[in-house]
Amino acid sequence: MVNFYDNEMKLEFLSKSNNEAFARITVAAFASQLDPTIEELADIKTAVSEAVTNCIIHGYEDTEGIIKINCKLSANSIIIEISDNGKGIEDISIAKEPLYTSKPNLERSGMGFTIMESFMDEVKIESVVDIGTKVTMKKTIKREENLEDILEKTKD
Ligand SMILES: Nc1ncnc2c1ncn2[C@@H]1O[C@H](COP(=O)(O)OP(=O)(O)OP(=O)(O)O)[C@@H](O)[C@H]1O
Ligand SMILES: [Mg+2]
Repeated sequence: MVNFYDNEMKLEFLSKSNNEAFARITVAAFASQLDPTIEELADIKTAVSEAVTNCIIHGYEDTEGIIKINCKLSANSIIIEISDNGKGIEDISIAKEPLYTSKPNLERSGMGFTIMESFMDEVKIESVVDIGTKVTMKKTIKREENLEDILEKTKD
């Protein structure tokens, strides 16, 4: 069944650090269709920022490549897929551990995945060495239906 709120968007951009803010703001603008609270929106922005930064710093390191974002909205949730075609992760369970970082010398704290997991309801990491990494995150927006929405849905 096609839902009133169903929607989808795709983004592709170069792995330049300037584009981290672009990605975070664009996903937040798209997500705002679900009427999230300021806190829910801040959670989404932070999670996107962590995932995109990982693609830039770890996925592509000193090279440049394409980062893709695919966002899907449904009645009360957003699914965000962020992927790179970079170097990939050898051991995902080690990478997910709080405080684990492969780049301690770059002042990384190793908290990116932990932050994504605490701010989003579901986080799935898929990765193949030398092929790339895809992070899929889902968040339910506790949207309260307001009068305008009900009128919009019931008008003929
Ligand atoms: N897109 C990616 N491509 C390749 N390796 C990745 C990618 N994302 C994460 N990793 C690996 O997983 C590790 C943990 O990532 P995480 O974001 O938790 O910490 P960090 O990026 O090292 O530090 P922080 O996010 O706190 O700055 C990284 O150090 C890196 O080795
Ligand atoms: Mg990180």
